[in-house]
Amino acid sequence: MVIANKKVLIEKLTGIHSSKKSYYVELKKKISEITRQNLQLEIINQLTKSIGVDMTFKQILENIIPKLQVLISFDILNLYIIEQDRLVNQSTFLVENNNHKHGKALAKYNQQVEHLEIKGQQISPTLKKAITENKPLLRRSFKQEKPASAEEEELQAMGIASTVLIPLMAKNKTIGVLELASKTDFNDGDLPFLSQVADQLSVCLENVRLYKEVWQHKHEWETTFSAVTDLLMFINNNHEILRVNRAAIEFFTHREEDILGQKCYRLLYGRETKCNPCLAEQVIKTNQTAYLQSRTRFHRVLDIFAYPAYTEQNTPLGVTYYAKDVTRFVDSIKFVSLGEMSAGVAHELNSPLTAIVGNSQLLLRETPLSSPHYQLIKDIKSCGMRCQRIIQNLLTFSRQDEYSFEEVDLNQVVERALSLVSYQIEKNKIELSKKLYASLPPVLGNAQGLEQVIINLMLNAKDAIYTKTKESDHYRKGLITIKTRVQPEKFVAVDIIDTGCGIDTSSIPHVFNPFYTTKRAGQGTGLGLSVSLGIAQAHRGFIDVDSVPGKGSRFSLIIPLDEPKPDREDGPNGQSEENRPQEVKL
Ligand SMILES: Nc1ncnc2c1ncn2[C@@H]1O[C@H](COP(=O)(O)OP(=O)(O)OP(=O)(O)O)[C@@H](O)[C@H]1O
Ligand SMILES: [Mg+2]
Repeated sequence: MVIANKKVLIEKLTGIHSSKKSYYVELKKKISEITRQNLQLEIINQLTKSIGVDMTFKQILENIIPKLQVLISFDILNLYIIEQDRLVNQSTFLVENNNHKHGKALAKYNQQVEHLEIKGQQISPTLKKAITENKPLLRRSFKQEKPASAEEEELQAMGIASTVLIPLMAKNKTIGVLELASKTDFNDGDLPFLSQVADQLSVCLENVRLYKEVWQHKHEWETTFSAVTDLLMFINNNHEILRVNRAAIEFFTHREEDILGQKCYRLLYGRETKCNPCLAEQVIKTNQTAYLQSRTRFHRVLDIFAYPAYTEQNTPLGVTYYAKDVTRFVDSIKFVSLGEMSAGVAHELNSPLTAIVGNSQLLLRETPLSSPHYQLIKDIKSCGMRCQRIIQNLLTFSRQDEYSFEEVDLNQVVERALSLVSYQIEKNKIELSKKLYASLPPVLGNAQGLEQVIINLMLNAKDAIYTKTKESDHYRKGLITIKTRVQPEKFVAVDIIDTGCGIDTSSIPHVFNPFYTTKRAGQGTGLGLSVSLGIAQAHRGFIDVDSVPGKGSRFSLIIPLDEPKPDREDGPNGQSEENRPQEVKL
């Protein structure tokens, strides 16, 4: 009874119903079958894992061939894919070494027939049958058959004995055919495994197709996005920038990865908190486009149009900003009127001032130091000279068109500016640190104008340190760092960093306004930065500011580099017309 039960139990466990004599033979057969099935499953599993959505057909086949060879002997593998109602031979592989375990796939044959288009009427009858009947097709006596196409003739000439064709299906639609050809015979047992391989391959190929489709659409959108010459930004509900186009990257002169994720108010205005009112919030609240003209932290005036974006479920997704740089237009109105006025005033004041300064100098020479008039005349002379300086600044507005532009080495400009101001700086016991980038490319500019900008920035830095030391209880040594740097093919920059009093966030937008000054009457005209900005803009550049009240400021003069011109545009002497130093009207 027990023995009988044991026999039933073993039969149930192993699935072998036989006498004891053939039991072990059967068991061995069963084990090798199970091992083979496990291996098949493992191969299918490996195959699925090894295929990435971004792979080409060729890469996919290169991946699966060695895995298939572990179990099946074949010499040629063909992949046909249906594209726009046409069956296209995507890849053909010849297996170099018919050692089934380590055969290496070659792309030689592939190069001859890859992308061979097989239009409806040219499809071999076997391929057609596999597609229409939609089931694996095994041809064992291929060698003896009459070739139905040039391709089949070629296969026979290569000594192919049998072929197997397995349709590839995705979403109930035939998407292609996988063909294996062998110089030896395939057997029926290979078909279920090959069908499973084909099923997995179909899923992977469909994923690859979908990925390519999405990628293509993404690429089209990105190209459109980048082609827009005005600024485009997409901002989420948390005021974070998620996308920018090329124009925006160039405008902010940061790398894309540094812009993405930044808060819009920090990037646009250098603020630490959101704007009040906030344009993005207004747009989302009203579900209407909004417009704002504002001066950003780069002192550029932007016309900003904001458009709301929603998900399919109608929940707010963020805001798209479309911004146009209208600085030149806005500033030109301001500068033209200021320039015209300055030119007139300066012209009228110049002659009487020359007389005031000249005559007071003559009088000083004749007045003894002990005379009560000496100090009065000295004051007349120094005030007259100060007025001359103001006039000189005003003339910079009106006379900019006299500038000529040539190739300028900003390091040399910095050196010259330092030779003029370093005495004043060091006299105030301020340390000066100079870090000049050795291989700075030249810029197209006006050396005198740029020198004036650097001097203005250096003197402001000195004054800011002086203000801080004066205000603080204990003496602290100040430091001014002057640095040159380059962003290849984009711009060169001069940074002037001080450890002075810094500027309030609310005052930063005003520092470039003409006549804005926090210095005592008689100390500053408030024209230094507006003149400097005018010069920077005349060079297609700008001045960037970063400041922490009580800690210090960084003013950066940014001058764009000319885009490199293609060689073939060059003239006979290797210099293109546009590359030559030129006179630029400002
Ligand atoms: N490095 C700096 N640190 C702190 N504040 C600064 C700095 N540079 C400029 N400022 C602020 O900006 C104001 C305007 O500067 P700007 O150079 O235009 O005029 P100014 O220095 O006051 O007068 P001047 O015409 O003599 O240059 C300054 O009065 C000062 O308040
Ligand atoms: Mg100044």
